[in-house]
Amino acid sequence: MAKGQLQRQEQPWNILQNRTESDTNMKLTRSGKIALIILVVIIVAAAIGVIVYFVVYGKTPFYYRISFKLTNVDYDSKFGKPYSQEYIDLNERIVSLMNKTFQASKLRRQYVISHVVKVRQANSKVIVEVVLKFKSCYNNNAAVFRDRARNILLQKFTGDTGSLCIDPSSFKLSGCGRQTKMSPGNKIAGGLNSVEGEWPWQASLQQSNIHRCGATLISNNWLLTAAHCFVNAKDPQEWSVTFGLLLDDPKLKRRVKNIIIHEQYRYPAHDHDIAIVNLSKPVLYTSTIRKVCLPEASYNFPPNSDVVVTGWGSIKTDGASPNVLQKGKMKIIDPAKCNNKEVYNGAITNGMLCAGFLEGKIDACQGDSGGPLVGSDSRGIWFLVGIVSWGDECALPNKPGVYTEVTYYRNWIMSKTGL
Ligand code: ARG
Repeated sequence: MAKGQLQRQEQPWNILQNRTESDTNMKLTRSGKIALIILVVIIVAAAIGVIVYFVVYGKTPFYYRISFKLTNVDYDSKFGKPYSQEYIDLNERIVSLMNKTFQASKLRRQYVISHVVKVRQANSKVIVEVVLKFKSCYNNNAAVFRDRARNILLQKFTGDTGSLCIDPSSFKLSGCGRQTKMSPGNKIAGGLNSVEGEWPWQASLQQSNIHRCGATLISNNWLLTAAHCFVNAKDPQEWSVTFGLLLDDPKLKRRVKNIIIHEQYRYPAHDHDIAIVNLSKPVLYTSTIRKVCLPEASYNFPPNSDVVVTGWGSIKTDGASPNVLQKGKMKIIDPAKCNNKEVYNGAITNGMLCAGFLEGKIDACQGDSGGPLVGSDSRGIWFLVGIVSWGDECALPNKPGVYTEVTYYRNWIMSKTGL
């Protein structure tokens, strides 16, 4: 009995042991193969990754095109010929300034070379276009890198530039309309909080340090806003501009040097409700302060396009002003519909556009005036479509927001700012 029991106990144990042994052997060989395959795949992938990394970021240089005005060089038609002595001499002076600037900067490891690609006439002086060549930006953040290059140049141009007199306000380094942060869209009635860096071109236009209007940064020292913001106060000294998400804790503050109101604006009419604000000192672009893109004059934002309005205006008619920048996602409304009898009955003239919803719900409101209505292209670059101008109360059905149409005033803007 006992033996029998033992035998019976032994048998299954042996069988089990045998099976386990052979299974383990099989698993080892199979998992060995799998491990080997995985290892090969990893090595190949890593090799491809390293090659791609060096091709894309390591070896490929990249270029910025900049331009600026020289106020002590008279234009000479010989600048039009790249092999003329005049051109070669000017090129040499500029290249040496660029080399000095970047070799003394944080980007000295990335900077390679620069050269003048064009000399244009501006009044009797010249604007030079220069291409800068850089090696990879390993940190892989093109916008940050560009801001750094731009700020290094701006700092140089506002300081000692040797024998070349450079007008710092004429300096351009392309790049606009880039958000540095995004937050989820909105499903809201009214607006939704934005995040820092989401609308980095948004500014608050303040009279005696109190928020009055929105404004939009279109270069390092020019903003667009609404003319009606200045109806009772045209003296630049009363005004200041702040940047950053929060009204009570701005990232930057600037004084206003000059206010240019559209010549044909006549309060209380809403036509030509556009003004330009010149800052006392240019801003340095950062990840949370940067300019929006201006659309070409010929660009058309069709009805039903997605746009976003932002501002610190009141949350509802006669409501309080928020501290955090609000955003409202909406659509461009067909001007013909907006001029319908039950809507604005013909009050929408050339140079105005309607955006929002005929059902109401999302709209700009008091205090948003002068602020941006923006739309993005397929690359996620944001363009200034409109400037908050007027509306019958806020978010009422059949009373959408009316905006100054930026494309309509594009040439006027250019003529005033020289951008
Ligand atoms: N005029 C107003 C202001 O000064 C903005 C009006 C916008 N109204 C509207 N319903 N979209 O802030």
